[in-house]
Amino acid sequence: MPYQTLLTELENGILTVTINRPDKLNALNKEVFNDLDELLKDIYSNTQIQSVIITGSGNKAFVAGADITEFGNLSVEQGKQLAKRGQDVFNRIENSPKPIIACVNGFALGGGCELAMACHFRIASENAKFGQPEVNLGLIPGYGGTQRLAQLIGKGRAIELLISANMINAATALQFGLVNYVVPQEELLNKAKSILQTINTKAPLAVAACIKAANAVWNETKNGFNEEIDLFGDCFGTEDMKEGTNAFLEKRTANFKGK
Ligand code: COA
Repeated sequence: MPYQTLLTELENGILTVTINRPDKLNALNKEVFNDLDELLKDIYSNTQIQSVIITGSGNKAFVAGADITEFGNLSVEQGKQLAKRGQDVFNRIENSPKPIIACVNGFALGGGCELAMACHFRIASENAKFGQPEVNLGLIPGYGGTQRLAQLIGKGRAIELLISANMINAATALQFGLVNYVVPQEELLNKAKSILQTINTKAPLAVAACIKAANAVWNETKNGFNEEIDLFGDCFGTEDMKEGTNAFLEKRTANFKGK
């Protein structure tokens, strides 16, 4: 599938997606959102894709934010539409039944930090920097950043970052729990691939159910404990659950089919 602003490579079930506007520090313009929209359709439906890495082109930036040149003379209504579009796409990343992880290889600012936070978890290179600098522009985050930052690092730390526009480095992001690991830049993709290779051996429907149940924590329309009961029960109707338990009892490796 050819994209204008994304490079993709599928290897051993892991799709590596590189946002490719290096001369603009991979800023998210309309085309990137259109491409992400198409990409997500493929991720959801293509059975060859088991898990996904999202990263940025070059060694300086993951994504330096929404493309500020597109903010021009937007009306209040157009501003709301822009935020809605961004949130819709990022919600589909968060709700993807297949794991999507961010490899943050440099600046993750504004919409870049929001994109990383929409992913299921994050790995950073040592040079990564995170921040929500929108107040410098007279704006606030619009793609879920006010919500996910507070969910991930707690309200006090989140509000400080949101209203100061301060950036934090990778070590602080690790301390705050914003990222799971910090590694040298040249090891970033291999670290992510090695984690996903392990995840890709697990029962895909159970993996999807874990993501769904964990996401319910922050969904006010759902009771996460009830969601867990339903999803746990549903697992008993899968071939993979029978295969997994039989394989354990027969002391062999399970061969999951995602059924
Ligand atoms: N939107 C549009 N263009 C952007 C951008 C963004 N969010 N971030 C960077 N760019 C562009 C710059 O305009 C520049 O383009 P040019 O070469 O045509 O002038 C190019 O990317 C390189 O950026 P530059 O600012 O020269 O790099 P730097 O190393 O001096 O600074 C940053 C790096 C990340 C600190 C700086 O680019 C920055 O502050 N970007 C905006 C961050 C932001 O506010 N994001 C939130 C948006 S809501």
